[in-house]
Amino acid sequence: MTAPGAGARLLVTGGAGFIGSCFVRDLLARRDGTRIVVLDKLTYAGNRANLAPVEADPEQAARFTLVQGDIADPAAVAPLVADVDGVVNFAAESHVDRSILDPAAFLRTGVDGVYVLLEAVRRETDRVAAGERPLAPRLLQVSTDEVYGSVETGFSRESDPLAPRSPYAAAKAAGELLAGSYHATYGLDVVITRGSNTYGPYHHPEKLIPLFVTNALDDQPLPLYGDGMQVRDWLHVSDHAGAIDHVLRFGAAGEVYNVPGSHPVPNRDIVAQLLAHLGKPWSLVRHVEDRPGHDRRYAMDGTKLAALGWTNRVAFADGLAATIDWFRANEAWWRTARSGDWGAYYERQYAGRLARAEHGARAEGAGRVAGSARRGTES
Ligand code: NAD
Ligand code: TYD
Repeated sequence: MTAPGAGARLLVTGGAGFIGSCFVRDLLARRDGTRIVVLDKLTYAGNRANLAPVEADPEQAARFTLVQGDIADPAAVAPLVADVDGVVNFAAESHVDRSILDPAAFLRTGVDGVYVLLEAVRRETDRVAAGERPLAPRLLQVSTDEVYGSVETGFSRESDPLAPRSPYAAAKAAGELLAGSYHATYGLDVVITRGSNTYGPYHHPEKLIPLFVTNALDDQPLPLYGDGMQVRDWLHVSDHAGAIDHVLRFGAAGEVYNVPGSHPVPNRDIVAQLLAHLGKPWSLVRHVEDRPGHDRRYAMDGTKLAALGWTNRVAFADGLAATIDWFRANEAWWRTARSGDWGAYYERQYAGRLARAEHGARAEGAGRVAGSARRGTES
């Protein structure tokens, strides 16, 4: 087993995104000699500014390289994989709503991309056999609790069947199954993590918490899907990144580890908490049409990861408050993230929903007025 630790050379794919950049920042800030190459396509979700703290620190910058490229491109991937002890794959299209609008990119990165990474690692095992390097790289595939599908009661365990229900979740399930198959078939040193809903600084504003915080800062409507009683288990990004590092070092080859947040909350409660912290009114919330196939609840059992020696550190109330304050203090960052295709995406995803919600509210208001007028006439 390779189990890269201090001083390792790592390839971090998708390392300019939300969780990957946290992993890179936290690992390099340890100053233990670890060297990191980030391979990132810099899609709308990838942002070089997420790695600015690393690039601004000469000691960390000397151990860091950013390569812009696609994990589905073998020519970009192979030479990078040839030079490292471990590969941590964060690269993915990560937003469920976008997967419903347009699934193609999810399959390209989540399935073809993972296949290309696995093939590159497989070639390194051939080089080991040929005596060209001592060990092949370990590959950690970052997956998600969404592969279990909607879990109405109880807690998903790693051995449970996968039942993904969105194109995003299906692509993630396909990617991790492919990774598992390369362990079973070719003996690749693969480990898999399934993380729960993650929040924290540098979270792209398309996702629930940052979308609602930034909309509320602008006094814009907050589009809550359906009844808002869907449950998500929130995990701070530094705990998610820390758990991934822990599994990379100590996880057993071929194994899957759940990474729960252990803070399951209905969306409505999250929204109430963030509005209270911002001092903004509930009247900003609009109940809009639900997401098709919306998973009602995710919840995972974390016994296996705990037995490996990992414990989360960030309490949800502290993490949420600090995250909201980070968005308040970093307006330039989130305004930039809300540029490019943001306007077109927002229009496509929300304009109709918000208009229909306003129309429904007006019709209901008119109904109430007519009802009381009728009652007035009748009495
Ligand atoms: P993100 O969308 O913020 O970042 C994804 C990164 O991958 C971006 O930097 C993007 O440019 C890059 N990328 C996309 N396609 C690529 C390609 N073909 N080649 C190279 N780079 C590419 O996502 P995130 O929230 O940081 O999620 C990271 C990983 O964690 C994903 O695999 C996701 O499925 C998983 N995950 C996320 C959550 C969550 O709540 N955010 C929870 C569990 C698991
Ligand atoms: P999201 O942040 O997209 O994460 P995921 O779909 O991976 O769980 O959504 C979190 C929850 O918030 C999910 O139940 C959908 C809901 N949601 C809304 O109600 N409105 C929104 O505008 C968004 C983006 C999400």
